[in-house]
Amino acid sequence: MSDVITPAVEVKKSHKLWGGRFGTGPTAAFDALNNSIGIDFRLWPYDIRLSKAWAVALWGANVLTLDESKELERGLDAVAARLDAGEQPQASDEDVHTLIDRLLHEEIGDVASKLHTGRSRNDQVATATRLWTMDATQRLDSAVRMLQQSLLDQATTVETALMPSYTHLQRAIPVSAAHWLLSHFWPLERDRARLKAAQRSAAVLPLGSGAVAGCAYPISRVLLQGTLGFDAISPNSIDAVSDRDFIAEVLFTSTMIGVHLSRLAEDLIIYGSSEFGFVQFGEGYTSGSSMMPQKRNPDALELARGSAARMLGNLTSLLATLKGLPSSYNKDLQDDKRTLFDATDTLLLVLPAVAGALAECTFRRDRMQSALSSTMMATDLADYLVRKGATFREAHGAVGKLVRESESTGVEMQSLPFASFTAAHRLFAADVSDALSPAQSVAHREVEGGTGPVAVRAQIEAARVVLLPPPTPRSSNAAV
Ligand code: ARG
Repeated sequence: MSDVITPAVEVKKSHKLWGGRFGTGPTAAFDALNNSIGIDFRLWPYDIRLSKAWAVALWGANVLTLDESKELERGLDAVAARLDAGEQPQASDEDVHTLIDRLLHEEIGDVASKLHTGRSRNDQVATATRLWTMDATQRLDSAVRMLQQSLLDQATTVETALMPSYTHLQRAIPVSAAHWLLSHFWPLERDRARLKAAQRSAAVLPLGSGAVAGCAYPISRVLLQGTLGFDAISPNSIDAVSDRDFIAEVLFTSTMIGVHLSRLAEDLIIYGSSEFGFVQFGEGYTSGSSMMPQKRNPDALELARGSAARMLGNLTSLLATLKGLPSSYNKDLQDDKRTLFDATDTLLLVLPAVAGALAECTFRRDRMQSALSSTMMATDLADYLVRKGATFREAHGAVGKLVRESESTGVEMQSLPFASFTAAHRLFAADVSDALSPAQSVAHREVEGGTGPVAVRAQIEAARVVLLPPPTPRSSNAAV
């Protein structure tokens, strides 16, 4: 490992935004640790945007002439065109800000050196990351919405099919399959509200905060805010260069989305097993086995379930970083983007895959129906007795006896002799057979949010309304 500590002289010629006070400069080993270009390169469209706005702000503050400001804008456009055309960073570029500064010098020469007046990479990176996040939350919102649409489409298709609901993964009470599907719709709606809140937190402008104490030139932050599309201006420069709450909020939201995806995936995986057989997977999001020819494995769903762990890892990583810091900017913060980008990239892969995997699922009404054993109507039988005047406790006990008899004799409840019913409770009459029908059980639950057919229709309608307005993009610059 003797080649790890390379003499600094080898990297001395690289373009840096600092170095005047250094004699020999950094080692290659330090550069390898310190350089973040491999992570933050994707911020370039946002860094260009904020730099153009900064060039105008410097003119407004009489720091630059109009010509200089225009030259900087032109140069930044030229840099953007080169990057857009696929120009890649050099290994010696420290980070995206340094890369753009180097290219800007190549494009317009010395006047490029005037752009960094009054700003620091501390307020710069915070601004670029916020702009990126404002767009990313929009992309995440669209991806979540797509999955909601998939759930709604399937719910509409299977609306009248009945299936068991489960608590403790034990058969509980019959529900409509649409009701179960939509139980995965609403958590995603809450996630979208969280995304919106995180987006609002991101939309606070840090630019103008300098390294920590604010900018020493009279730049108009109001103008910067308007030009860059922020909702507000940060009220404290020390806070502004270290505030990563918005990233924590995105990561928490991503974790919740991951948890919700995991639960949906787990339901589908269980229901797709031969033992349940409620769901048949399609071919587009499954894989085979290299050994067992019969296998069709729900890999996309399993990967979605697994990705929730990564989201949680990213969230805890960022929170642990923030927890250890003194106020203002510290280099630990450079790693914020690793977690933010990983969570976003992962979800943008996983969400469409789950939406697609769900869309190609076929729901087996026959298998769902045949899983509705008569003991699942025990609650309905107790409710039957209550409607006839029994107390619920008394009814619960009487039906419990019938369940025991059914279990010990192996006879389904609807096939028990009528005498067993009257022996269990005197209020049982001939109409008891109605209370043993899954359709009746479902039909009784028309309370708002219940599984009754009218309530579910209303729920489907409500879900449809939620998806009606197309998301309006916050910003036209949607580059990654
Ligand atoms: N690459 C750095 C980051 O992502 C930019 C800010 C550097 N600031 C500094 N004071 N060295 O955090």
